[in-house]
Amino acid sequence: MLLLATPLARARRLVRTLTGDDSSPLAGRTVLVTGASSGIGEATALAVATRGATVLLVARRAEELERVRGAIEAAGGTAYAFAVDLTDGDAVDALVRQVVAEFGPVDHLVNNAGRSIRRSLSLTHDRFHDFERTMAVNYFGPVRLTMGLLPAMRAQRFGHVVNVVTWGVQVKSPKFAAYTASKSALDVFARIAGRETYRDNVTFTNVRLGLVRTDMVAPTEAYARTPAQTAEQAAEVVVRALEDRPVTVDLVSARVVAVANVVAPRLTDLAFSLADRAFGDSAAATGRTTPERVQA
Ligand SMILES: NC(=O)c1ccc[n+]([C@@H]2O[C@H](COP(=O)([O-])OP(=O)(O)OC[C@H]3O[C@@H](n4cnc5c(N)ncnc54)[C@H](OP(=O)(O)O)[C@@H]3O)[C@@H](O)[C@H]2O)c1
Repeated sequence: MLLLATPLARARRLVRTLTGDDSSPLAGRTVLVTGASSGIGEATALAVATRGATVLLVARRAEELERVRGAIEAAGGTAYAFAVDLTDGDAVDALVRQVVAEFGPVDHLVNNAGRSIRRSLSLTHDRFHDFERTMAVNYFGPVRLTMGLLPAMRAQRFGHVVNVVTWGVQVKSPKFAAYTASKSALDVFARIAGRETYRDNVTFTNVRLGLVRTDMVAPTEAYARTPAQTAEQAAEVVVRALEDRPVTVDLVSARVVAVANVVAPRLTDLAFSLADRAFGDSAAATGRTTPERVQA
């Protein structure tokens, strides 16, 4: 992972190292993590709590959030759970009102909740809802939550939003049109929003993760033997982004493909077309199996 820390963040980290100060800038802060009921969000919530932050856990499954909250409290941390469907705009607005009233401004927001769809266009012609539901959870939900929490962040002149997006934003792999377009929308939103909030010391980071072994990718047989990070490793990347507030975190390999996509676009089209044929749709994507919660 490449983490492009701002010079200020690098200087702060250096000072902490030189003075033997192992405290985290997250200590005493309020961090809201969406998608905290499993995978990367759960691991991030646990890691942030051990650094002394108060963690606000958001996802739909109340019992899973309760499990995560219990684990954090058992380890001596502080967490509160909010069962909210981020695709329900009124519920997101109510969450914002409740959180700001009870906790004051959120210092860090991690827009991690998401849904991935890996499905060929040829299987998608009569499935417009694939585009709608990825946009609902990967774009409109986090944007609505961010817009709700921003005024209090700007007023206190501190805030930081981390978006957990994907290397697909740079790579643009076949079968991910719906998913990657929704994540790209969030990535671009953050880049522009951060320019407007810069003068209020409110910053945005896009963390463009590669493959992480979680429930989300389980239905895709092609990934069974592909190297992947663990949720805990991905969470450490997110935590470092929370502490250092870089603009982007990404992979060297994704940067190389991004450059190739610009300098030799038809050559990369050919390469990806061959890969598209070599790695078919999963059983879940073709409807041969129907996982309850995730759709690869
Ligand atoms: N795994 C990878 O390879 C990979 C790679 C790059 C980026 N990412 C991104 O990483 C993020 C976390 O994914 P993961 O891999 O950790 O998968 P995961 O374990 O399936 O986590 C997804 C989380 O999102 C929550 N969620 C889904 N829909 C929601 C909704 N409508 N409202 C509220 N919460 C919702 C889920 O909780 P509930 O079901 O309880 O609501 C769950 O906590 C996603 O944004 C994903 O796109 C993953």
